[in-house]
Amino acid sequence: MLKGKMAEALNKQINEEFFSAYLYLSMSGYFESIGLKGFANWMMVQYKEEVDHGMKFYNYLLSQGADIKLLPIAEPPHTWDSPLNAYEETLKHEQHITKCINDIVDLAEELKDRATFNFLQWYVDEQIEEEENDREIIDKLKLVGDNKSGLFMLDKDLSARIYKPLATNEEV
Ligand code: FEO
Repeated sequence: MLKGKMAEALNKQINEEFFSAYLYLSMSGYFESIGLKGFANWMMVQYKEEVDHGMKFYNYLLSQGADIKLLPIAEPPHTWDSPLNAYEETLKHEQHITKCINDIVDLAEELKDRATFNFLQWYVDEQIEEEENDREIIDKLKLVGDNKSGLFMLDKDLSARIYKPLATNEEV
């Protein structure tokens, strides 16, 4: 059984993950609007993964007999200055999510909540990957600079990203 403070923190994190989904869906729309379908695909996959991250918290709360208390999702921005700016904002957002996860890990330690501490390790690992992916794309965008053919090649690369539902390779 979860302590009230932990249930509140995990419910808040569902909101963070669903806001992330909203943000990346908005970015996908932005990339469509500037004709970069590969980038739009990458962001659409990211949107779906964030919904999975939120649902993993949702299912954990239920498995612990805690109440689900969904919060309002804030409006994300609708446009960015450039693909580089969008990915820099993505990295900034993921660094914020990493901090949120680390804060909940700290709370689990404080409450001696071993089950939640273990559960959160998946997210700790996932955040390393999330930030690394963003940094990689930022580096490539910086290399490409104003070179249009470089940008289209990168767009082609990003069109290959495929969504793999979390439920198929592990328990959500
Ligand atoms: Fe669910 Fe991108 O953190």
